[in-house]
Amino acid sequence: MEKEFSQKKRVATLTLDDGRSIELPILSGTLGSDVIDIHGLAKLDIFTYDPAFFSTASCISRITFIDGDAGLLYYRGYPIEQLAEKSDFLEVCYLLLDGQLPDAAQKAEFVRKVTSHTMVHDQLARFYNGFRRDAHPMAVMVGVVGALSSFYHDSLDINNPEHRELAAMRLLGKVPTIAAMAYKYHNGFPFMYPKNKFSYVENFLYMMFATPAEEYVPNPVLVKALERIFILHADHEQNASTSTVRLAGSSGANPFACMASGIAALWGPAHGGANEAALNMLIEIGDISRVADYVQGVKDRKYRLMGFGHRVYKNMDPRASVMRETCHEVLKEQGLENDKLFKLAMELEKIALNDPYFIERKLYPNVDFYSGIVLSALGIPANMFTVIFAVGRTIGWVSQWKEMMAASDRKIGRPRQLYIGETRRDYPDMSER
Ligand code: CMC
Repeated sequence: MEKEFSQKKRVATLTLDDGRSIELPILSGTLGSDVIDIHGLAKLDIFTYDPAFFSTASCISRITFIDGDAGLLYYRGYPIEQLAEKSDFLEVCYLLLDGQLPDAAQKAEFVRKVTSHTMVHDQLARFYNGFRRDAHPMAVMVGVVGALSSFYHDSLDINNPEHRELAAMRLLGKVPTIAAMAYKYHNGFPFMYPKNKFSYVENFLYMMFATPAEEYVPNPVLVKALERIFILHADHEQNASTSTVRLAGSSGANPFACMASGIAALWGPAHGGANEAALNMLIEIGDISRVADYVQGVKDRKYRLMGFGHRVYKNMDPRASVMRETCHEVLKEQGLENDKLFKLAMELEKIALNDPYFIERKLYPNVDFYSGIVLSALGIPANMFTVIFAVGRTIGWVSQWKEMMAASDRKIGRPRQLYIGETRRDYPDMSER
């Protein structure tokens, strides 16, 4: 444990009904709620029960801070709104990894390094042929990113900081290439190899939408929108996929395998899969005249409103506020302001924001509600939405994994359980069952 935390003097005293008692240190971070350090409880042979981790901090981190009630999100102390307005994605990546914003020379060197890793081994391209053309691109992502583990045997020593750095650069460089290849494969188009004259985001759009037959000129409005989506999704402290990456990494698994586990966790509709689910929901509603009925179905608990609600944000998700603005910009740029689906989305937003059912439960539109609309307006198909989230979140997973691997007190993650199964019983012969 780090020195600044062990010096805290405050304690919480826990007294059990059998009279045993223990003093537990109260830790204070630089921001946010105090945390009771329950390490010592094991000495009393007692555990805590906290399913879904409502009240459990799983690690000490310096990367990202969220205050869900106040609607705040900071990367390394910088508010997300400032980064979304003033920064670009690779600068945010540097910040998350390193802890500080780069100066001009550091930034240029970082961009050079990431860009030098955008190609994938030619053998990796063969993996795609093993997938059905109609495979979900997230299935392809889990498989192909995990498969990167088999290409770098010479630099997979997780205890070597240089190897960890190299893996970080490789992941940052190659995940967009792998994602765009998943899109191309799904649609039967030839792969477009990266062009390093483009920026990170331009290059991704190029690999997605260019064809060998035509010149490709990136549209700056679309580039800006995708840059924002990547920045807003870059990290979000200990969410389900990041916690999965950390848990996998705690066993000493290699970083590519850890990222594959993060991608798998992200895929679920309660997490990163929500952007795709939100757009499918809009398509299912179909017409603005059906919004009220659909909302009634949500209140009758037939289904959830996808793209609404968040475990931590019980006020507006600050990422959603930025994305909402981008959403209107992109719809205008694409001439889609009067599009049926987008008008329907705006009606749903209006009803939900004013309905007591949603107000009482603090259910606001989250970032995925708006990012689904933006991505759709950019011409990206719904089954690629979560893939785009994964491309943006790779830096968060990598930064959190690196932070954990560099910590001096790293241990394998191993939750306990409250067992409620059978007590001991003897094996009966078949004739006695
Ligand atoms: N639609 C309708 N009701 C909801 C919704 C929703 N989207 N979300 C929560 N509720 C209700 C829920 O029924 C419960 O009501 P009651 O107290 O009457 O039983 C109450 O709100 C609390 O729900 P919960 O499941 O305890 O809340 P949670 O904090 O565990 O769940 C969530 C958070 C994100 C999983 C949930 O809000 C949800 O399923 N949302 C839809 C999926 C979604 O958009 N996910 C993306 C999150 S943002 C991107 C990311 O970070 O991954």
